[in-house]
Amino acid sequence: MKNTKINIKLNQLIYPLFVKNGNSAKEPILSMEEVYRFSPDILLDEVAQLKSLGITNVILFPVADKKNDYAKYAYSEDNIVYKTIILLKQNFPDIVVFADVCLCAYTTHGHCGILKNTNNNVAIDLEPTLSALAKTALLYAKAGADYVAPSAMAKGQVRAIRETLNENQYQHTKIMGYSAKFASNFYGPFRDAANSSPQFGDRSGYQLNPADPQVALLKIKQDISQGADVIMVKPALSYLDIIQMAKNKFNHTTAAYNVSGEYAMVKAGVRAGYWDEEKIVAEIINSISRAGADIIITYHARNIAKWLNE
Ligand code: PBG
Repeated sequence: MKNTKINIKLNQLIYPLFVKNGNSAKEPILSMEEVYRFSPDILLDEVAQLKSLGITNVILFPVADKKNDYAKYAYSEDNIVYKTIILLKQNFPDIVVFADVCLCAYTTHGHCGILKNTNNNVAIDLEPTLSALAKTALLYAKAGADYVAPSAMAKGQVRAIRETLNENQYQHTKIMGYSAKFASNFYGPFRDAANSSPQFGDRSGYQLNPADPQVALLKIKQDISQGADVIMVKPALSYLDIIQMAKNKFNHTTAAYNVSGEYAMVKAGVRAGYWDEEKIVAEIINSISRAGADIIITYHARNIAKWLNE
């Protein structure tokens, strides 16, 4: 360990995992060094290693091979995240499993909701979108997810999911809302990883305007009142002020997502020899924690665990 202290406990970190159909697959993601798309069998080996490093929390993202305009494969039992949660819970009952709930990986157009039929205009059809999100969340709860994490930025998504879970006796399944999710350039590498880029238009109609902190605080407040156990600010580094305001104002369990683009910048600089990886990651993680995040979702989690174990 160098003289850079990372002031975080491993149980405050969540490690993102991409899962796809198949066997023996560990596919590198070009935009995100050391991050892979795993088939379920190899993902189990990976989680065994993470566990031995002291990582207790993971969040799952699908790389979907079947898509349609209405995201119907999101809530079908062949959903790869659904199958993976079952396997994970059979093998590692004490790993805390978060499941991202969104439609962008399952829609042909790549938007996070179902669209009204308006030739390449991005208008979310709210009612079927909420229904698809709630059905997907219920499927993940049935598989044993500890947390479902709606990230579609559809109005009322937390309430719709909470109600559906409760009606089906999943009161104990918790919700982490992607409450303040900004329309950010920093998601680029993730969309490459999950093959979930919008095929036309952008997400600025449903993700938040980076220039508007008040809307972000309002969204967080709404998520709390709809039943979010954890609220999230995303991305982290360009929005440390929002994390701090949210924590001070609501004093609710607050997560921050240190996203793919933030990770890719660090890795590019390491490769170019601009900085030391461990030291720069310590500076980043400490800043997010100082701002008030109780939980940090980060692709650096695996390396942080290694460094903290040294
Ligand atoms: C799904 C989703 C995205 C991310 C998490 N969930 C992509 C997006 O909104 O386009 C991004 C995570 C990252 O960049 O690391 N909607």
